[in-house]
Amino acid sequence: MTKQYYIETWGCQMNEHDSEKLAGLLQTMGYQPTHKVEDADVYLLNTCTIREKAEEKVFSRLGVLRREKEKRKGDMIIGVAGCVAQQNGAQIFNRAPFVDLVVGTQALNSLPQMIEGIQSQQGRQCDVDKDPDNHLFPVHVPVRNSSVRGRITIMEGCNNFCTYCIVPFTRGKERSRPVEHILEEAQMLADKGFVEIELLGQNVNSYYSTVNFATLLRRLNAIEGLQVVRYVSPHPKDFDQDVIDTLRDCQKIATNIHLPAQSGNSRILKRMGREYTRELYLEKVAMIQNTLKGISYSLTSDFIVGFPGEKEHEFWDTVTLLEQVGYDRIFSFTYSPRPGTGAIKHGDPIPLEEKQRRLRILQEHQLNIQSQRMQNRIGSQTTILVETIKPGDSYPLAGRTRDNLLVHVASEVGSPERFYGQMVAVEIVDAGVHTLRGRLAEGASDLADAHSVVSA
Ligand code: SAH
Ligand code: SF4
Ligand code: F3S
Repeated sequence: MTKQYYIETWGCQMNEHDSEKLAGLLQTMGYQPTHKVEDADVYLLNTCTIREKAEEKVFSRLGVLRREKEKRKGDMIIGVAGCVAQQNGAQIFNRAPFVDLVVGTQALNSLPQMIEGIQSQQGRQCDVDKDPDNHLFPVHVPVRNSSVRGRITIMEGCNNFCTYCIVPFTRGKERSRPVEHILEEAQMLADKGFVEIELLGQNVNSYYSTVNFATLLRRLNAIEGLQVVRYVSPHPKDFDQDVIDTLRDCQKIATNIHLPAQSGNSRILKRMGREYTRELYLEKVAMIQNTLKGISYSLTSDFIVGFPGEKEHEFWDTVTLLEQVGYDRIFSFTYSPRPGTGAIKHGDPIPLEEKQRRLRILQEHQLNIQSQRMQNRIGSQTTILVETIKPGDSYPLAGRTRDNLLVHVASEVGSPERFYGQMVAVEIVDAGVHTLRGRLAEGASDLADAHSVVSA
């Protein structure tokens, strides 16, 4: 009987893509995917440790898997991959002795060998070796979850060591992949009919191989067949004039600009090790606003509230930053102390209830700002790449704008299937806080017909 695997993924897009790579490795060993826990011969948890809560969830999930394994009298391989694996290594076996394998973020390729080791009774396996020779991203067999959007790792790791963050420890030093390899993978995706690519890296715009990030974007923009090039996660320091000019000049490059501020107060930013002040950050925002005049773009950010020592007025500097910049979306978190990081020495002096109060205030302010900004889009024309279709629904099409806003589209014109994977012009007719509603613009339907004839 065919052996089956199940991979459960938490964390960021890089982790999701790593799961696609792990799936590819398992499939080359003859395993097939299953969505039923009880059918899985190999069960992998691909984990995240960015905040304490994320890590705790891993161990409570492992408890559930232990019961499944007991039911089957041990006949199941349980593995832990991702950032918890990299951070804790073989210590995971102490806390969860029923785990069979631990595979770190830089050792994905060891998975087949580890499984074979377990099957030939060599006992538990652990590989969390760092990638000493900079064997860059050597897994070439991802099984992609989407047939429209393909992810490509362009760099990994982080040298910034922000004092709250565990990522430099779990993902290692910054390594950039050779430009030719990236272009080759992007071309291969375009040849297979993918229309969107998403470039991945912990500091994606710190990319440097023989060319810089802006040049890489320009080269990708020239690949025929690709329509949208997205990228996560960028760092504010690397959004320079060259990159912003590239967004202005290259039609296919996404114009959602994620500019993670973390705080609006310069003293806290210094303690966080962010290497910019509130003023420098605002200068960057102004540069973006000036360069992209007349182009539809969105600004988003990440924030942490309750960093050790954050005073009430310093927290309010973050609230006023929101108002001054006018973000289209934010991702905000309460501070969580992480082992081994620079800020751990400060403890976690702000009580949880107080951190949550600050988070609520921040999010309420953002919702007001955001809903106004979304309303302002009503009446505008835009283009989306259709990624979801729900035949029979009153809004059967959904997709994202170039600046990454989700639009649900009412289609009065026959079967929605023909729009799948197509760029269509829409007019925005309504707005919620998080999503927009639109209808097909004049001629959009004919365009999709023409595309389907060409691709038929
Ligand atoms: N490389 C990305 C960050 C990835 S982590 C960047 O530099 O933007 C995503 C977000 O999680 C961070 O931007 C930060 O807002 C949040 N985060 C990271 N460590 C955290 C911690 N210890 N407590 C709370 N939030 C944290
Ligand atoms: Fe973490 Fe800072 Fe690196 Fe982002 S830049 S991954 S927040 S250390
Ligand atoms: Fe989490 Fe690791 Fe990504 S800690 S956010 S899975 S890099």
